[in-house]
Amino acid sequence: MARADQLKALLRAYAGNEETQFYSVALQMAADEAQRGHTKLAGELRDLVDAAKARTTRSVGPRSVPIAQPRGELAELLNVQYPQQHLSQMVVSQDVSNKLKRVLNEQRQHARLSGHGLSPRRKLLLVGPPGTGKTLTASVLAAELRLPLFVARFDSLITKFMGESASKLRLVFEALKTTRGVYLFDEFDSLGLQRGSQHDVAEMRRTLNMFLQLIEQDTSESIIVAATNHGASLDGALFRRFDDVVIYGTPDHEMAVLLLKNSLAAMADIDLDYQALATVADGLSQADVVRAAQDAMKDAVLQHRDTVAFDDVITHLGERKASTSLT
Ligand SMILES: Nc1ncnc2c1ncn2[C@@H]1O[C@H](COP(=O)(O)OP(=O)(O)O)[C@@H](O)[C@H]1O
Ligand SMILES: [Mg+2]
Repeated sequence: MARADQLKALLRAYAGNEETQFYSVALQMAADEAQRGHTKLAGELRDLVDAAKARTTRSVGPRSVPIAQPRGELAELLNVQYPQQHLSQMVVSQDVSNKLKRVLNEQRQHARLSGHGLSPRRKLLLVGPPGTGKTLTASVLAAELRLPLFVARFDSLITKFMGESASKLRLVFEALKTTRGVYLFDEFDSLGLQRGSQHDVAEMRRTLNMFLQLIEQDTSESIIVAATNHGASLDGALFRRFDDVVIYGTPDHEMAVLLLKNSLAAMADIDLDYQALATVADGLSQADVVRAAQDAMKDAVLQHRDTVAFDDVITHLGERKASTSLT
């Protein structure tokens, strides 16, 4: 994340009197400094945050969860990001777009809703094939609502903490209460489908069930986004635990045209035949189309051209098609 954004996030948290958020940004800055090799500064920042927290939490009751503390337990389970993507950058069906706009609208007006005893939608299940924008959606929701995005690392939860994953998961749900944010549980069910020892499989099932229970019980103000590529294998009971189920799909012809226009905008001739390109893109996911467009732009740049070549885009779309048909 860029420093300018961290400063802005810090000021926003300060102005909004969002104490936990303020500390979480500060700790993220410390982590970034550490990554840049400025370990002394990073340590000093952490100490300052710890000292400030110790002072305030004593008077405010229960100690807040040290959410973004790099050394803390949670740091191994949650990874924090401050995304920048906006909804307008996404190419999705009208239905998906309406559902996401509704979530944003309800979230933005949550004070008004709660004034009438109503609560905004905040538990979302995203279902759809790979590369259709599920992970991107979590980033967009966070960016649009100016909230941090916390990505829960299910893999480390299960593999690193065999036998303890339930208690670790509880810890994550504690964090939801103390720090408002978008919490992404990405490909949360893929664990259940992986092969492992009997013991592993049993633990994965237990953890998955517990996860669903924790979602159901959660009454925080955070937004829960659970994403999966395996919609067909999920049962109806699961769907009912969420406020909304959003179904993603690969783009139709018109969406492919739009996606190509967006992706190639910087380097396209006015007369580029998007219709023909979209026809070739048929069946590809958004991620594949975007990558093919980027590859064609790279060709142009490396060959010292200002505009992308129609044939290059066709070639790369074809390449993507060939590799998706292999899998
Ligand atoms: N609906 C979309 N609109 C625009 N770009 C998309 C869309 N879906 C995917 N992409 C592009 O592909 C990348 C990967 O998509 P991702 O959100 O990770 O897919 P998923 O999580 O569904 O597998 C995104 O970062 C973005 O560049
Ligand atoms: Mg994904």
